[in-house]
Amino acid sequence: MPAAILYCADMLAPRRPDEHYAAEAALAAGFGAPIALIDHDALTRGETARAVARVPSGLGQAWYRGWMATGDQYAGLHRALTARGVHLATAPGQYRAAHELPGWYGAFAALTPASRWMPLEPRQIPDDGVLAALAGELPSGPGMVKDYVKSRKSEPEACFVDDLADTASLHETAATFIERQGADLAGGLVVRAFEDFIGSSGRAAEARVWWVRGEPVVVGPHPDQPGTAVAPDLTGIAAAVAALGCPFITTDLAQRTDGRWRVIEVGDGQVSDFPRGTDPEPLLRALLRAPHPL
Ligand SMILES: Nc1ncnc2c1ncn2[C@@H]1O[C@H](COP(=O)(O)OP(=O)(O)OP(=O)(O)O)[C@@H](O)[C@H]1O
Ligand SMILES: [Mg+2]
Repeated sequence: MPAAILYCADMLAPRRPDEHYAAEAALAAGFGAPIALIDHDALTRGETARAVARVPSGLGQAWYRGWMATGDQYAGLHRALTARGVHLATAPGQYRAAHELPGWYGAFAALTPASRWMPLEPRQIPDDGVLAALAGELPSGPGMVKDYVKSRKSEPEACFVDDLADTASLHETAATFIERQGADLAGGLVVRAFEDFIGSSGRAAEARVWWVRGEPVVVGPHPDQPGTAVAPDLTGIAAAVAALGCPFITTDLAQRTDGRWRVIEVGDGQVSDFPRGTDPEPLLRALLRAPHPL
């Protein structure tokens, strides 16, 4: 039997996939995938039994394709499904490793901008000494901040820093970022050295590469830039993907102005957005082949 795919349900019509995933779910069903639905709202409330109540028991191997979950929420989802005889191919530790920068950074360190991080509670602002020590491990010059998962890239005052050695300005940007993330701050603060990428309007032109069991099955644009033509050089990237050891991830790649392709970020493929206008068939076909360890 092909692996099942679990999509998020439409909140108002819980027997249907969320509109955002409806076309992909219909295509997967057409390829013979058993489809089942997750109540993502219940998942974020920690009501895992309710979240999986519509998933038939004994579905066997499965993938999730839906909205982001925290590492703890995913672990709860994995556990509740296992109790029903439904086995997500990505283990909770693998989800966290791909989803959060501290989890994937080690495998990709030579391929991605230099980064340091510190765990924080939501709304906790680190003091200047702590920030200066963190930034002191990175080259001086421009940088950016984000949490373990997301940035506020469209709000420059909460994202970009002209000089990481200027602690007052790093503090200002980091504090603005942390305040605006509010309760949603994921894990803590990440500070990254800035690199010059080819792109337009201040955004790097990114390719999103979809890796299933270590194979690049789709190379497309970033979902924010659906029309962009991209042809990244994957030399060296596959080895880092293999080192991370997760069965289904995405890598967002951008070309530096010196020509080198760099990894902007890694994501768990289950919660990565698929770009409109790109054919998901090769991805779905790769997912449907029963998952097995790398
Ligand atoms: N180290 C860096 N140097 C230069 N530009 C960067 C750097 N890191 C990120 N950027 C720019 O900022 C944007 C947002 O960064 P990133 O992808 O890490 O954040 P995000 O919020 O997780 O985005 P996504 O929408 O892809 O999930 C990137 O698309 C890129 O244009
Ligand atoms: Mg990104």
